[in-house]
Amino acid sequence: MRVLKELFEKNKKWADKVKAKNPDFFTNLSKQQNPEYLWIGCSDSRVPANEIVDMLPGEIFVHRNIANLVVHTDLNCLSVIQYAVEVLKVKHIIVCGHYGCGGIKAAMDNKDHGLIDNWLRNISDIHRYYREHIDSLKDDNEKINLLCELNVIEQVANVCHTTIVQNAWRSGQKLAVHGWIYSIEDGILKDLNVCTTNLDEISQTHRIK
Ligand code: CO
Repeated sequence: MRVLKELFEKNKKWADKVKAKNPDFFTNLSKQQNPEYLWIGCSDSRVPANEIVDMLPGEIFVHRNIANLVVHTDLNCLSVIQYAVEVLKVKHIIVCGHYGCGGIKAAMDNKDHGLIDNWLRNISDIHRYYREHIDSLKDDNEKINLLCELNVIEQVANVCHTTIVQNAWRSGQKLAVHGWIYSIEDGILKDLNVCTTNLDEISQTHRIK
């Protein structure tokens, strides 16, 4: 119980496998990281960023939380975005949700889940904005999956509304913000076509002049 031997054995095997393919891999990586992508995804164990897009360590900078939320006062997420944009100069920020998300389900079931309900309130707000559209669907899973998509679209807007992203655009930095959704059932990603690349594409109410 005190030492997870199996995980250390797996780690050794994995490191050996990577080194067998590229003996300098870890030495080169230890000198710098230069990822082109920031991934903001759900903490769900079935949605691991690197594996889904088949990328090696060093290729993708990652922030994950329950239901892939970007909350304007979340210093953790904002610090990740700031570091990724200002220091690493990533070219793309990807907000990736997934169908059947437990966070979205919990936000919709009106039960008491304890402290986490305060986090899930952010999703309930989105539910309220789109209540008519969501309630027009009959099937519960369809409702959940629609809110999973709408949540990604809202979080893309939240990323774009940060002072960090707006200031990057104002200074001419090339940066695209994408909204994707992943299906756990078949392992396939879908682009929600909300890619945003400049200040003119965001709402006037949130735009810095
Ligand atoms: Co989830």
